[in-house]
Amino acid sequence: MNAAKQIMCNRWFHLVKQYNASSMVFSHGCHKRLFSTSRSRMTVMPAWVIDTYGGNDVLRFTRNASFPILNYPNEVIVQVHAAGLNPIDVSMRGGYGASSLSMKRDPLNLNQKGSEFPLVLGRDVSGVVMECGLDVKYFKEGDEVWAAIPPWKQGSLAEFVCLSANEVSLKPKSLSHSAAAALPYVAATAWSALVNTCGLTPENSAEKRILILGGSGGVGTFAIQMLKAWGGHVTVTCSKDAERLVRGLGADHVVDYSAGPVELALGTLEKFDVILDNVGGDTESWALGLLKPWSGAKYVTLVTPFLQNTDLLGIADGMMQTGITVASKALKAYYIYARLEPSAGLVLAVSSWHCSTEHSRFAALTLELHCMQKLTLAAM
Ligand SMILES: NC(=O)c1ccc[n+]([C@@H]2O[C@H](COP(=O)([O-])OP(=O)(O)OC[C@H]3O[C@@H](n4cnc5c(N)ncnc54)[C@H](OP(=O)(O)O)[C@@H]3O)[C@@H](O)[C@H]2O)c1
Repeated sequence: MNAAKQIMCNRWFHLVKQYNASSMVFSHGCHKRLFSTSRSRMTVMPAWVIDTYGGNDVLRFTRNASFPILNYPNEVIVQVHAAGLNPIDVSMRGGYGASSLSMKRDPLNLNQKGSEFPLVLGRDVSGVVMECGLDVKYFKEGDEVWAAIPPWKQGSLAEFVCLSANEVSLKPKSLSHSAAAALPYVAATAWSALVNTCGLTPENSAEKRILILGGSGGVGTFAIQMLKAWGGHVTVTCSKDAERLVRGLGADHVVDYSAGPVELALGTLEKFDVILDNVGGDTESWALGLLKPWSGAKYVTLVTPFLQNTDLLGIADGMMQTGITVASKALKAYYIYARLEPSAGLVLAVSSWHCSTEHSRFAALTLELHCMQKLTLAAM
């Protein structure tokens, strides 16, 4: 019996068991099953997968990827209408974070090495809720939603994806699916870095001087718009080609990193209250000197050594190495690694939202971004 037939039989057996247990429930007009298997005819789906880590050549298109199932009652299955890729997808294709993400997927280490394959990449999704678990209260079948998918879960380069309901939120009606899929991961990352880590808010950002290293990328373009909407003074580094883009988003001062040593050009400017580093590498060796001294200034980097250290040294030694690095740097300055917090549902309450389709980057004139837990969501 081939693999597809085998899956079909297993699923059918599972379905019969469930119907016998009379576990079908209707709530909010949504089909709910305790341990759902979705519709019986859906056993496989098309997806882009990788079966090993490597270059672009490891990407494989298949029509026979396993259809996701609801394993917990708070999960939803989303039909993907648009997917987004981020630098982390490219890194993950090459094996970045393999050790720590495997530990997250399989904490008891019950599975064999390589059990994450076939792995589906894609961290952003915009789509429609197809099925809800028993405990899902805030979504129903047919709702248009978007989400940033945590890196340890199967991604959005597939027809369907299974997510926890608190990782999903309603997509703004003003955005198409393809526009919406360009946003969640970078928006949640920019929010985590600037608000959760740096403590910036609409109330305290006015007149603050903020430097964004690598401001023309996904995270940077979003960060510029948030900070300008909140009245901050924003200096950006990027390539010459991107100057027009970042100025169009509101950047006050732009430094071309390809025109010579960027640290010298930045060193001539007034010092900064906050530095958001999207570039990493040797930037931290000179960037800390650009902060205002004795003022609570903060340097936040998105290029964390944690996943790389655990890949190189294993989980325990990698964590220890990262701890030592962070602790020694934190002694020198307000030095923080920001990370995306995917458990917070992302809601963009858009009062006047303008998007430029160029490079799928957004020129938001007025935006309010709230990371909300599902209870807050319910209050909307
Ligand atoms: N911690 C997290 O949760 C998290 C989440 C998402 C992303 N990240 C990390 O954050 C970083 C930024 O993400 P992103 O999506 O914004 O990436 P991106 O879209 O690729 O943007 C990269 C930016 O860096 C600039 N850049 C490239 N080389 C540079 C150099 N040598 N010197 C100065 N600037 C340079 C680029 O400028 P030009 O395009 O003008 O050349 C661009 O502005 C990535 O390293 C990513 O892995 C972390």
